[in-house]
Amino acid sequence: MTQLDPNWQSDALDPSLGFFEQTLAVRGGYHRTDEGEHSEAIFATSSYVYKNAQDAADHFNGNKKGNVYSRHTNPTVRAFERRLALLENGERCVATASGMGAILTMCLAYLQAGDHLLCAKQLFGSSVALFDTYFQAFGVEVSYVDCFDNAAWAAAIRPNTKVLYCESPSNPLAQIADLQFLSELAHGHGALLIVDNCFATPVLQKPLDLGADVVIHSASKYIDGQGRVLGGALIGSDELMEKAFGVVRTGGISLSPFNAWVLLKGLETLSLRMKTHCENANQVAQFLTNHPQVKAVHFSGLPTHPSHEIAKRQHNALTGVQGGAFGAIIGFEVADQASAWQVIDSTQMISITNNLGDAKSTITHPATTTHFRMTPEARMQAGVSDGLIRLSVGLEDVQDIIADLSRGLDSLGN
Ligand SMILES: Cc1ncc(COP(=O)(O)O)c(C=O)c1O
Repeated sequence: MTQLDPNWQSDALDPSLGFFEQTLAVRGGYHRTDEGEHSEAIFATSSYVYKNAQDAADHFNGNKKGNVYSRHTNPTVRAFERRLALLENGERCVATASGMGAILTMCLAYLQAGDHLLCAKQLFGSSVALFDTYFQAFGVEVSYVDCFDNAAWAAAIRPNTKVLYCESPSNPLAQIADLQFLSELAHGHGALLIVDNCFATPVLQKPLDLGADVVIHSASKYIDGQGRVLGGALIGSDELMEKAFGVVRTGGISLSPFNAWVLLKGLETLSLRMKTHCENANQVAQFLTNHPQVKAVHFSGLPTHPSHEIAKRQHNALTGVQGGAFGAIIGFEVADQASAWQVIDSTQMISITNNLGDAKSTITHPATTTHFRMTPEARMQAGVSDGLIRLSVGLEDVQDIIADLSRGLDSLGN
């Protein structure tokens, strides 16, 4: 007999005992097996064995709950799903092979031909490519508004709008959508509000508490936190997650057990990492603001950022973070593409890579990397200028991060 319980509702910790969030991040969601392992086990198996033919039939016809095949469920994946659901205050989580896998699942689960998907303009480039290239071809109408413009969202609603979708904070300008307003707007029109919470993580923001119906994650970012694996997730009510689960298991968008294990361990330290990420970012943003070669700094922790007030309201205040917790992605602009490339190429330590949310600071030129698939007009509308640099502030000593940025920025003056 194993203590593994395939019931989605079950939890290794008795919730009536009222554990604090950091305890859930470290211990939530895992059912220890009879082997007594302390660290969570990786169930590297594609299929599962039944007691007899009747038992197999019962698993397939739904009379018995349990594992059938790892494209459907896997104990390690399920432990990650339970833990993330606890942290996002959701009833259930469905893990996917990547963040884009979660966004594809969202489209397949909640939209069909003739529906309208209303999105923020400020989205990750591949999300825009997925909606415009594939879903428009399948007969889904897609339109875009500025994520921070409540009046524009309200004006763009159509009778067939089924999903409002945004990233908040947005990539790469850290603009903030008013999630409470958007959830009321969506629900008033029978639509869902779906929020990509990848930049804030549940440590800084819980969109479900603000009225969102589904939260999406690229777990490849802060949840992993060390740039090792790809993963994604959707979190929401049982009813909505059952639809997402159907897409994932049928479409094979499933997370691998090994990746689930890495992400499960990543959740344990997420809040500790986010505190330092945020503290370092506050200091780097201050440095960039004061540098004469920097034309603009896009970071909602700065009182001059248009989303500063709403970020303060919407983001959880992390105790002990000097200057407040506003995330750790900073967009900053220099004169043009040549200057941006010079700054990037002058770094000695910061990694030139498009990933973010890593312990290592990363730097990228969005116009020619993450957002290059967008048309120049769409890029301009999303505020992705040729001189824009995106920095993901890592966990190195902040003095080294600032020194590395100084190398390139100071050389622009020569
Ligand atoms: C905000 C956001 N959402 C989704 C994704 C896609 O995630 P993945 O790379 O895990 O597919 C990314 C990737 O950079 C992202 O930045």
